[in-house]
Amino acid sequence: MRGMMLAGGAGTRLFPLSRVSSKQLQPVYDKPMIYYPLATLMSAAIREIHLISTPHDLPVFQEVLGDGHQWGIDLSYGVQPEPGGIAQAVVIGEDFIQGDSFVLVLGDNIFHGPIGLEEEVAKFQSGAVIWGYPVDDPQRYGVIEIDESGSVLSIQEKPDIPLSDLAVPGLYLYDGSAVLRAKNLEPSARGELEITDLNLSFLNDGQLRAVELERDITWLDSGTHESLLDSSNFIATIEKRQGHKVACLEEVAFKMGFVSADDVARTIGAMPHSPYRSYCERAILG
Ligand code: DAU
Repeated sequence: MRGMMLAGGAGTRLFPLSRVSSKQLQPVYDKPMIYYPLATLMSAAIREIHLISTPHDLPVFQEVLGDGHQWGIDLSYGVQPEPGGIAQAVVIGEDFIQGDSFVLVLGDNIFHGPIGLEEEVAKFQSGAVIWGYPVDDPQRYGVIEIDESGSVLSIQEKPDIPLSDLAVPGLYLYDGSAVLRAKNLEPSARGELEITDLNLSFLNDGQLRAVELERDITWLDSGTHESLLDSSNFIATIEKRQGHKVACLEEVAFKMGFVSADDVARTIGAMPHSPYRSYCERAILG
């Protein structure tokens, strides 16, 4: 299974912070935002990962994340010249996807708790899987209606009158047909290839399944100043309370068996002295 992360977009809602760096490199408490979705993919045993961003921001991602060998993963990069929509990333990623199944995660989506992605990936055969998460303000998101068996009855992008309170988080599991389906989409009124239209294509063929995330799981989308602060506060609270870092990529890589103790000791040895390094020494090397 391959993984794609989408980290482009204009980031206009975060102005003037977005003048300093792209949205997905902004700090969420003690790490760049992109660490969190990357940890989500790695925790599902996904090691071949393609990150798509703007021509302006991509070099910074390459500088920050490198080729992934320090975490035992293979990171490659693709350019989205203009923000032509989330589904456009699927078309851009065609050469990386190579007809296989893949997980797409949005670079500003943070998940905390056992979301069961590894299990879904392990049993996935064909079609598409999306998730649903109950929220107070569903009109800000893609919204699904599902029946008791998880069959999707409807899906709408940012509806004025939502048919349910289940928002669709930025996490999608697709078979290789997604590329051709995305190529066949028409741009929406706002000129984008909409991810909801890609999901509708699977739904219309009876190939879309939804999994409702349990309420003990936290899903945060950090695209506004308010939600960015909420995310930082949430991560700080969890880390201070539990004494464990969320999305420490060295720790995830070690736990997943992607790197050996010697490998991770070398990576930690190259870090500047910092609370992050001290945590890695304590939590991983013991
Ligand atoms: O967060 C989940 C929601 O994400 C879903 O519920 C919606 O169905 C989906 O359309 C999307 O809505 P947003 O309004 O949050 O999308 P936004 O334009 O903020 O883009 C989400 C991420 O994708 C963000 O990190 C930027 C990146 N992006 C977006 C576009 C449109 C790109 O990299 N390229 C793009 O062309």
